Amino acid sequence: MPEFDPQAELDPQSQLDKMRLDWDQRARENARYYVATGKTDWSDAEFFASGEQAVAEDILTDMGNVCQGRDPRHMRVIEIGCGAGRITRALAGLFGEIHAVDVSGEMVARARQACADRPNVFIYQNNGTDLTVIPDTAPFDFAYSTIVFQHIPSRQVIENYVREVGRRLRPGALFKFQVQGDFRVQSSPDDTWLGVSFTEQQAMEMAWRCGFDPRYRHGAGEQYFWLWFFRK
Ligand SMILES: C[S@@+](CC[C@H](N)C(=O)[O-])C[C@H]1O[C@@H](n2cnc3c(N)ncnc32)[C@H](O)[C@@H]1O
Repeated sequence: MPEFDPQAELDPQSQLDKMRLDWDQRARENARYYVATGKTDWSDAEFFASGEQAVAEDILTDMGNVCQGRDPRHMRVIEIGCGAGRITRALAGLFGEIHAVDVSGEMVARARQACADRPNVFIYQNNGTDLTVIPDTAPFDFAYSTIVFQHIPSRQVIENYVREVGRRLRPGALFKFQVQGDFRVQSSPDDTWLGVSFTEQQAMEMAWRCGFDPRYRHGAGEQYFWLWFFRK
């Protein structure tokens, strides 16, 4: 008989509550450090430059897949897990409209402050699992998420986000995101720092179940396992 594991008993709502509470606590303690652990004392300039660098590496090198011939200034973009607005601010300089969600109200407050001079940014605190807080006015053209799913201790929550993004993207559009690919990372249901890992097969199956074509991937087996899911 398997041993009783109290952590395995965590119900889905308690798990979402824990994500919110833990990330609120991290934001109060040192938001920028927990967003990007490279430094404990980021200056404004360094912090936002690191967001520009992420956009340069992940998006500007990949404009064919991201924009597919569209003018980025006319594109509507979803960002999942905006944290303190590090990348949101950089996305706003490139795309027409950014709609960003985060489970932590403390992070959302910091992201709003970081993007206060960017009228094309809309930031929402969400419930940690879906995109219902984003007004359903028009389809989106691109979705992006980095260093977020690697912290989520539930494949069900991550898959729900993928399905939600699928509902909101126009056909053919790209969801480019990063998950934890390193299987040496041991997650447990109440650990909101070390999230669940994905094998290539698990990632592909998630794409198919959620109506995506998983066209490219990079970094399988590593922390930065990047997925290019194109909406069918
Ligand atoms: C390490 S930070 C990265 C923030 C941002 N992506 C960046 O790179 O600057 C992770 C963020 O994901 C958010 N997060 C964690 N779990 C989440 C969930 N289930 N839904 C939405 N956001 C979540 C946290 O509140 C935190 O702001």
